Amino acid sequence: MTQTTAMPQTTPQRTATPRHYLMCPPTYFDVVYAINPWMDPSSPVDTAKALAQWEALRAAYEARGHRVDVIEPEPGLPDMVYAANGGIVVGGRALAARFTHPERAAEGPAYDRWFDTPAAEGYRRLGEAVETMEGEGDLLLIGKLLLAGTGFRTTPAGHAEVAERLELAEQGIELIPLELVDPRYYHLDTALSVLDDGAVSGETVVAYHPEAFSPAAQETLRRLFPDAILVGADDAAVLGLNVVSDGLHVFLSERAHDYADALKERGFVPVGIDLSEVFKGGGSVKCCTLELRPDATATTTEETSR
Ligand code: ARG
Repeated sequence: MTQTTAMPQTTPQRTATPRHYLMCPPTYFDVVYAINPWMDPSSPVDTAKALAQWEALRAAYEARGHRVDVIEPEPGLPDMVYAANGGIVVGGRALAARFTHPERAAEGPAYDRWFDTPAAEGYRRLGEAVETMEGEGDLLLIGKLLLAGTGFRTTPAGHAEVAERLELAEQGIELIPLELVDPRYYHLDTALSVLDDGAVSGETVVAYHPEAFSPAAQETLRRLFPDAILVGADDAAVLGLNVVSDGLHVFLSERAHDYADALKERGFVPVGIDLSEVFKGGGSVKCCTLELRPDATATTTEETSR
């Protein structure tokens, strides 16, 4: 039951803009602990299959003209494949994560170090967060708003640190806290998709599963995004909301059927992805993808920060 509220009169033209992504191959991916309700350490993981599925996702991005860089996976960090959690990069400023659970603690420094490598040229390495902050798992930029989840992982103190160290006010970006209430949707990116920031189309579009949010957060979302796509329980439960959008193509679980139809109705092109192995860790497309946004005021390429 995925529905579009208050359909706009005409669907604007969607346009893809080239993006820069960081991904981590699931070389050491496994489910050996349970830090979210999706994880069952007794169910086996097929690593070869996980790698093949991950390669297909990477190829899907590259086929649409996106740049993908890869961070070296580390043994003993089975969740490192979820690159979105490694940090947050806005306006060329890169802040690495501070994880809630000790099992993932070493991932913060690993992602931080990547910002010192030649591939990260142009991004300013700010180091690791001091407060609990799980990167783009909980922090989703849409235009001049940084939607910021809290309740299970990233804390309000983490939000405050992000605002300060990424100089959000100076960049004209407002942080919008959103409280999550369902443990299955422990990260904002499991409950909400950023689809179009409106930079080209003039229309800002998100999708979300209302029940994942507190009443106050639902009110905030209704106010900010009256035309949002509302995603029902079935599509949410295959982590269908955990998508990457380039403004036109929406890379999402091939199991989210109603949501894919709603995307088509709104002018997007859904690209179905099979990530059945990394799903066992409680993640999907977006979890595997950290977006790197260069400093638009310092770059001369067509890649602009939006
Ligand atoms: N097993 C990981 C955890 O619970 C999954 C993280 C998924 N990543 C995401 N961006 N939601 O932390």
